[in-house]
Amino acid sequence: MIKILKATEKNIKKAADIIKKGGIVAFPTETVYGLGANVFDENAVLKIFETKKRPHFDPLIVHISKTEQLKLLAEKIPSKLIKITETFWPGPLTLIFKKNKKVPDTVTAGLPTVAVRIPSNKIALKLIEYSATPICAPSANKFTKTSPTTPQHIIKQFNYGIDLILDGGKTEFGIESTIIKYENNKFYLLRPGAIEIEKIEEVIKTKILKPNFKKIEASGQFKKHYSPEHRVVIVRDESKIRDNLTSAYIAFNKKPQKKYKIVKILSPSSNLKEAAHNLFTFFHELDSKKIKKIYVELLPETGLGIAINDRIRKASGKEE
Ligand code: TXA
Ligand code: MG
Repeated sequence: MIKILKATEKNIKKAADIIKKGGIVAFPTETVYGLGANVFDENAVLKIFETKKRPHFDPLIVHISKTEQLKLLAEKIPSKLIKITETFWPGPLTLIFKKNKKVPDTVTAGLPTVAVRIPSNKIALKLIEYSATPICAPSANKFTKTSPTTPQHIIKQFNYGIDLILDGGKTEFGIESTIIKYENNKFYLLRPGAIEIEKIEEVIKTKILKPNFKKIEASGQFKKHYSPEHRVVIVRDESKIRDNLTSAYIAFNKKPQKKYKIVKILSPSSNLKEAAHNLFTFFHELDSKKIKKIYVELLPETGLGIAINDRIRKASGKEE
C-alpha cells in the first residue's frame, strides 16, 4: 500500500526528507499531481521512469520555487523569456531552455534542452523549498494513462513504488501546463495547456507557431495519451450512435439527444475552465464503470478549448 498523508507542514517536511534521501513523492500542483524526485539524483530519476513505465526518450519537466534556481538548470536565459516568466510564473507554463551540464541526461532524455516551470500550488512550492533542490516530475500516472487530479486517481494506477503521496485535494486546473519553446527568435507551442496561447501572445506581441516536429519533443507527439480504460470515441454525428444504452457520453454543456448508460456534462454554463477541471476526473470515474465506450464531444477550438480538445483527441488515439 502506498502511504497518503494530508499535506500539513509536518508532512511536507517528511516528503522533502524522502526526496533528499533519493525517494519519489507524488504531490499536487495546480495542474495535475506530479511524481517527483531530486533532479540531480539520477537513481531517483530512474525510479520515476521505472514506476511510470515511461520510455526513456520522454523527458521530464523540472519544477523550481524561485526564478533564481533557473541558474542551476539553464545555460542561459534568453532576454525574450524574462517577460514571460515575470508574467506567468508561478503558474502552469513550462518553458524550454538550453540545459547546463549538471542536469542529468536521464532527465532530458538526452536532449540539449530542459523544460522548467514554477508551479503556483503552495504545497508544491513548499516541497521544492524544503527539499532544497529543483524537483523533476512528470504527471503521476502510468505512461499513456489519464493524469491524476486527486490522490485516489494515483492509487488506482499504482500499488507500489511511490514512497509517499501528499494529499492536497483536487487540483485547480485539471489539465497539464502549456509548453512553449523559444528558438531562433521564434516561439513554438509544444503542448497546449492550462494557460491559453492567446494570453501569452498578448504579452510577447507575436504569434506562437505550431512546430514542425522531426522527433519526439513533447507528449503531443505520442498518438495515444491521457487514455482512460475504455475506448474514447469523438462524437461527429450523434444520430449515428447505436450502442448508446451501453455507453457513456461526455457532453460539453448540454444533455445529448439520446439516452446513455451514463451522461456527464463538462460545464453546464459553457465555462472552459470548469470543463478542463472536470475532463480527467470524469475519465477516472468512468474507469470503474461497466460501459462499452466513452463518447466525447469536442469543445469550441478557442482558449482552453484548444488544450481540452488536444487531450480528448489523444485519449481517442486520433490526431486530426
Ligand atoms: O502540468 C504539468 O506540466 C505537469 C505537472 C506535474 O507539472 N507535468 C507534466 O509532465 O505534464 P509530463 O511528463 O506528463 O509531460 C511533460 C512533457 C513530456 O511529455 C515531455 O515530452 C515534454 O514535457 N518535455 C520535457 N522536457 C522537454 C524538452 N527539453 N523539450 C521538449 N519537450 C519536453
Ligand atoms: Mg503526463
